[in-house]
Amino acid sequence: MAELPDEIRAFVAEKGDDGVDRGLRTLAAGDLGDGDVVVRVDCSSVNYKDALATIPKGQVARISPLVPGVDLAGTVVEGPGEGSGVLVHGYDLGVAHHGGYAQYARVPAEWVVPLPEGMSAKQAMAIGTAGFTAALAIARLERHGVRPGDGPVLVTGATGGVGSTAVSILAARGHEVVASTGKDARAYRESLGAAEVIGREDVASDGKPLGKQRWAAAVDSVGGAVLAGLFPQIRYGGAVAATGLTAGVKVETTVMPFILRSVALLGIDSVQTPMEERAEIWRRLADDLRPPQLDDTIAREISLEEIEPALDAILQGGLTGRTVVRIAS
Ligand SMILES: NC(=O)c1ccc[n+]([C@@H]2O[C@H](COP(=O)([O-])OP(=O)(O)OC[C@H]3O[C@@H](n4cnc5c(N)ncnc54)[C@H](OP(=O)(O)O)[C@@H]3O)[C@@H](O)[C@H]2O)c1
Repeated sequence: MAELPDEIRAFVAEKGDDGVDRGLRTLAAGDLGDGDVVVRVDCSSVNYKDALATIPKGQVARISPLVPGVDLAGTVVEGPGEGSGVLVHGYDLGVAHHGGYAQYARVPAEWVVPLPEGMSAKQAMAIGTAGFTAALAIARLERHGVRPGDGPVLVTGATGGVGSTAVSILAARGHEVVASTGKDARAYRESLGAAEVIGREDVASDGKPLGKQRWAAAVDSVGGAVLAGLFPQIRYGGAVAATGLTAGVKVETTVMPFILRSVALLGIDSVQTPMEERAEIWRRLADDLRPPQLDDTIAREISLEEIEPALDAILQGGLTGRTVVRIAS
């Protein structure tokens, strides 16, 4: 069993009368919360939900003070699997239990996923919660019957974490990917393998219950009116995997695409994904679902000190790709 240092560096968010106080603090080992496994954290990442966990109206943080960070990868230093590489994401991590933005995390053993063979901690966090969600969405779409060659697959919010990874994985699997983005990032999208890059306005609905059948399937990371507008544009028997809400939570639709075109809406949740499927998706992320650009294009690396501006940027829709937080130096 490793001796933990007296002072553990962490990025902490604490609710106060005037909002949420965010910054670097030192914690004691006893502050880490409950659990049977202590992980020395190598890397965490920046997800949209992390930003929501640090703002007053985010409705994500359920404890205060909180170490945010909904995912982490590192080495077990105490508990079952001591010495092995692991990753943790979802459940209460970074929302109701201290998360990845600290040198150490103590977590329940049931949350722990072995780091897949051939994947480093940094690569795991370049994928992170967002990339796992993209992979889960693609696995579910393919299980629904969507195959390469069926026609164009649309990815919305395509420069975001979920969107980038979805474009990369889909393209590598031979799907014809159309990337929709609000940013001027054509070169970036194309470098991930998108066949075509279109603007957000190009996927907007014309308001009709049934429209031109443009997409064999879609991975949507933005929700709201964008998601609602996709159903009438999906080809007969196709499906939309809904993963996110950056454009809003309200989805107004008619039943027509569902009952006249057999369109399916697949809900994707990464937080409570059962462990068997979770571990299988991670195994596949090191294998046939591996994003080819994992080591260069998709992710940039920042330090604990640089988290705050990154959280602000992701809330504004201003981050491109994935951001890995390097915790261990
Ligand atoms: N279901 C799950 O388990 C799960 C897991 C992870 C994430 N999520 C959710 O998935 C979403 C994406 O997460 P992320 O970490 O990938 O965030 P992200 O990196 O910020 O990506 C979101 C992207 O959405 C687009 N966008 C932002 N604001 C928009 C608006 N008002 N209207 C239309 N598009 C907008 C932007 O892409 P463009 O500029 O390219 O258009 C942005 O980059 C979030 O809502 C997050 O909470 C859910």
